Amino acid sequence: MGGKKLDNTSSNGNGTNADNNNSNNGAVGANSNNFNSNPNTTTLKITVKPPPATIHQSPVINLDRGDPSVFEPYWKKNGGKCTITISGHESLSYFSDPHSVCWYMEPELQDAIRRVHLIVGNARTEGYHVVVGTGSTILFQAALYALSSSSAVVAQPMKVVCAAPYYSQYKEQVELLQSRLYEWGGDANTYDDEDKTAPFIEVVTSPNNPDGSLREATVANKTENGGKLIHDLAYYWPNYTPITRPEDHDIMLFTLTKCTGHAGSRIGWALVKDVAVAQKMTSFMQITTIGVSKDSQLRAARILQVVADDCESKAGAFGYGGDDADRTFFGECRKVMAGRWEKLREAVKGNDVFGLPKYPKRYCNFSGRYFQPAPAFGWLECKEGYDASALMKANNVLTRGGDTFGASNRYTRISMIGREEEFDRFLERISGIHCVNEDEDKEGEEGLVVIHDNNGNARRGNGNFLHEVK
Ligand SMILES: Cc1ncc(COP(=O)(O)O)c(C=O)c1O
Repeated sequence: MGGKKLDNTSSNGNGTNADNNNSNNGAVGANSNNFNSNPNTTTLKITVKPPPATIHQSPVINLDRGDPSVFEPYWKKNGGKCTITISGHESLSYFSDPHSVCWYMEPELQDAIRRVHLIVGNARTEGYHVVVGTGSTILFQAALYALSSSSAVVAQPMKVVCAAPYYSQYKEQVELLQSRLYEWGGDANTYDDEDKTAPFIEVVTSPNNPDGSLREATVANKTENGGKLIHDLAYYWPNYTPITRPEDHDIMLFTLTKCTGHAGSRIGWALVKDVAVAQKMTSFMQITTIGVSKDSQLRAARILQVVADDCESKAGAFGYGGDDADRTFFGECRKVMAGRWEKLREAVKGNDVFGLPKYPKRYCNFSGRYFQPAPAFGWLECKEGYDASALMKANNVLTRGGDTFGASNRYTRISMIGREEEFDRFLERISGIHCVNEDEDKEGEEGLVVIHDNNGNARRGNGNFLHEVK
């Protein structure tokens, strides 16, 4: 292996870096991964033992999608109270609440949303308008429309930027309809608009999908005109990350998909400060879908009420904290996520190909204790010259490659929120991926696959498998 040992020592989070300084979001980005990139490296040769010839007979493990089945066992045990009955005469009308900006929103849902945020302490709701959507996906579009259509004359499309690695769907959504109102502006880190007065939109995802880092705006707030911000806080719940403060941004997006795991109900919500923006978002929903399924809203309201009741019933004399918080829905699910991360770090520790980001422990106001984030996705890094998702695919594991997120293909994203059996099978498989020893490192030797280029191009040795994945 050219003598260079990969450093994949994973953080065990034993009290180091404990920090509850709220002013420092402690973002852990791609640079803080465990490998030390050497920019002077021109050619790097990494030799990886090929998977066994029988690998293609083993089932494909799909960790590409972020389908949240991880909490299903919890709901199988505790979901009885979530049952609702909707009779044939109910939910007929388009309208729900004429007093709300979001007139199609069921009042029970609005109440449950505000109540859960208050209990968890992850977002302010007083002074905010709630806008409900069919998942938060459509609310992202609604927010783009609301922010970009407010200028009297739209001279040119507003750029939409997000710091890489960014959630792959943003680019697709921005580009889908080739709008004249907005267009994709790419990585916020390299955004440099010549016309400093041109308005733009920055999306801030915190914790971030794919790398789990905590983030703040990159360009907005630092420019003269100030960009407009959309905060996507889909993962800012105590089952994934310590809650360090109630967020209070102009537009904050949340979704039942990641909060409780009920992706299929397709319910998301936006907390919006400015009434005019909330009205525009609502009219986007009116024009595109004339509202959101009331049946889904009522089910979501019930689920959130059950979560809120559960938290309140377990709150000790001093509020939510410590052992009490551990027994709530969020506490139980955090244990599951933390367990998966522990197993993943263990598997990666034993292999010299992959590394993972480190996340410092932080104090969680909801849980009343320090803990390390356990993000919904693992952001695996390989050494330079290496295509991480191609290597995974060669091992019959589907992941989402770094380029989809505006990053290098040395990275790939794996879902941590799928089913237990699939995740465990993945751990077994990743444990079998190794570099070969230096004395075995001879191109052309039986069974070896050699990757040696800086452009993300993998070349086949005579192990045959990279040929198949390209
Ligand atoms: C950062 C982020 N935002 C939004 C969504 C979309 O969620 P929804 O199911 O509510 O449309 C996802 C889904 O994976 C996501 O990762």
